[in-house]
Amino acid sequence: MGVVASAPAKIILFGEHFVVYGEPAIVLAIDKRAYVKIEKRGDSNIHLRSTTLNLAGHFEGDAFKIEQGNAREARSKFEPVKHAVERIQEKKSEHVGLDVEINSTIPVGAGLGSSAAVVAAATAAAGAILDVKLSKEDIFRITYEAERIVHGTPSGVDPAISTFGGAILFQMDTGFKPLEAKTNIPLVIGDTGVERSTRIQVEKVRRLMEKYPRITENMMKAAREVVLRAIDAFKENDLETLGTLMNINHALLYGIGVSDESLEWLANAARKAGALGAKLTGAGGGGCMIALTKDERLQEVLEAIQRAGGRPFIARKTDEGVRIE
Ligand code: MEV
Repeated sequence: MGVVASAPAKIILFGEHFVVYGEPAIVLAIDKRAYVKIEKRGDSNIHLRSTTLNLAGHFEGDAFKIEQGNAREARSKFEPVKHAVERIQEKKSEHVGLDVEINSTIPVGAGLGSSAAVVAAATAAAGAILDVKLSKEDIFRITYEAERIVHGTPSGVDPAISTFGGAILFQMDTGFKPLEAKTNIPLVIGDTGVERSTRIQVEKVRRLMEKYPRITENMMKAAREVVLRAIDAFKENDLETLGTLMNINHALLYGIGVSDESLEWLANAARKAGALGAKLTGAGGGGCMIALTKDERLQEVLEAIQRAGGRPFIARKTDEGVRIE
C-alpha cells in the first residue's frame, strides 16, 4: 500500500531575484500539481522514477545507478528528492527502503517551481508512509534544505509557496505572510519552452550585482517599491496598477539580464493583445511569462501568446499547499 501526496506549482507575481537579496516578493500557488507516490521496499535503497520525464534510477547509499534515461539528468533531478526522503528515514530507528514515483503536471525548468513542489510532496508522502509526524513548517524546512542542492542560494520562496499554498508575501528575514487578495487575478501563463537552470540565472545576477553594486542597489530599491505598491493595489482590487507594476518589474528583470528573446516576444504579444501588464516569472532566461488580463480579454491574450510561439494556459490560484491525497 502506497501513499500519494501532492504540492502546487507557483508563479512569482513580483520580486524574483531581488528576493534572494532580502527584498520582498509576492507569490501565488496555482492549480498545477506534482504528485508523488511512495511505497515501502524490502531492502534499504531509495528507488526513484519520474513518469513525466521518463527517468528512473536508485541510490544504494550515495551511489546512483541509472535504470532509465540520462544518468546525469536523472541524478540531478532525483538528488534533492533523495535528500528530503533521507531526512525522514533518519527519524526512524529501522532503515526502510522506499519506492518513489513522481508524476507532475508542472512544466520542468520553466520558473513554476516544479522541483520544490516535487520535493515538498515527496517529503509529505515519506512522512505519511513511515509514520513520522510532520508539521507544514517541517516540510518547508526539509524542502528548503533539499532545494539548496539544486539552486545554490535559494531564497526559500519556492518551498514556501509549494508547502503553504494561497497567495503570500515572502521575505527572507521575516518569512511569509498570507496576502490579502480579494480579487480574482486573471492571468495567462505563457511557456516559452526554453528550459533553463535557476542556479545559473541566480549566479549570473550575482556577478552583475558584484560588478555594478551602485546601480543594482538602486534597482533593488525600485523592486521593493514595486512590491509595496502592489500590496496596496491588491487590497484596492486595482488591476490596472498591478499591470503597470508588472511591466516595471519586467523592465528591472530585463536590466539585470534575466530576460531573453523568447520572453520578450511573448510579453510583447500579450501587451499588444490587450494585457494590462506582462512579465517573466521565476528565474527567467526562458521558462514562463505571465500576463495580467481583464477577464473579457483572456482568450485574445491566450491566442496572441500561442501565435507568438508560446504554450499558453490560464492559471487559477489554489489555496491548497502540500497535501496527502
Ligand atoms: C526562482 O523561482 C526564484 C528566484 O528568485 C530564486 C529564489 O528566490 O530562490 C530566481
